[in-house]
Amino acid sequence: MQTRYRTSADMAEDMRRAVEDALWAPSVHNTQPWRFGVRGSRISLRADPDRRLGVADPKGREMLISCGAALYNLRLSLRAQGYEPVLRLLPDPDRPHLLADVHLEPGEEPDQQTLGEYAQIRRRRSHRGAFRPETVPAGVLTAMRYDVEREGARLIEAVDSHVKGALAALTDAAEHLQRRTPAYAAEISRWAPSPRTARKDGMQEGAYPKQTPETSPNFPTRDWARGQGWGAEPPHPGQPGVAGVALLLVSDGEGPADWLHTGLALQRALLRAAESDLAAAFHTQALEVPELRAFIRAHFCRDAYPQMLLRIGVPEGEGLETVRRPIDDVMIVEP
Ligand SMILES: Cc1cc2nc3c(=O)[nH]c(=O)nc-3n(C[C@H](O)[C@H](O)[C@H](O)COP(=O)(O)O)c2cc1C
Repeated sequence: MQTRYRTSADMAEDMRRAVEDALWAPSVHNTQPWRFGVRGSRISLRADPDRRLGVADPKGREMLISCGAALYNLRLSLRAQGYEPVLRLLPDPDRPHLLADVHLEPGEEPDQQTLGEYAQIRRRRSHRGAFRPETVPAGVLTAMRYDVEREGARLIEAVDSHVKGALAALTDAAEHLQRRTPAYAAEISRWAPSPRTARKDGMQEGAYPKQTPETSPNFPTRDWARGQGWGAEPPHPGQPGVAGVALLLVSDGEGPADWLHTGLALQRALLRAAESDLAAAFHTQALEVPELRAFIRAHFCRDAYPQMLLRIGVPEGEGLETVRRPIDDVMIVEP
């Protein structure tokens, strides 16, 4: 049972807090492609199709993974505040952008595990570049695998060095192709504002390194600076650094519900990693090129659908910066 009586004003405040926490989810190019509607004891999550990447993500797959990650934070925040959130995914087939309705029921006093996980929401940051040489504890990987399966997806670790090398090479090929294809390059520039920007979305100067720090095998970082000299100082100059553990997050199906489950699974695993001071670097370039994604699916995923490619490790130094839009730009209180 909840420990305190809540008035409707308390509940409105708790729901606002939950939406604020949801915003700290990762999203492709920091597009933050979500909107929240609050009414009574219900929060609706909607995709914002104006923020979809028309070239790299024509079906909205990455948009829905991003929204699924935000939904995970929303659910966790409500649990940490003593509610039992009841989720309905894709509740109305005639409104495909309505991704979820979350109803608040009275819940239990949050346990230490919930609170420990909750504390990671604002600590977690994407990493770009090499990791420190420390190994990732096997127990954390096992826990992440379990977390991901509980949310309806699966993690495949690239244990074989040839597989890891192939994934790095495919990322390199995709990055090269995206840099030289005008439509992809124009889309990247739309989401990489100049250092003088007042925007609170996209890949800001402090979010990526000035020069791509090399790893071994080399998983290239995206080229948000586009030769303009923007970016933060590289954390690992010189020798190629440690790539960390390479993971494919996969689903058995391919459609909006699978993408939302992937997003829920992704965020749950990322918060688990953050609890052990580990961070993830994402490399989804190859999954945005249909031929390369089909190759990865056929050869490395036993025909499951690859949804995310990431590396996990111990980050070095300060985390990279990131920004979010103010809550009042994304949340509407519905009459
Ligand atoms: C579906 C998806 C794809 C992503 N792809 C990449 C990527 O290819 N390279 C990268 O550096 N970050 C990638 N990211 C991470 C975002 O850039 C990052 O979440 C966003 O900039 C917000 O920063 P934060 O995660 O530090 O809060 C991806 C995130 C999501 C959810």
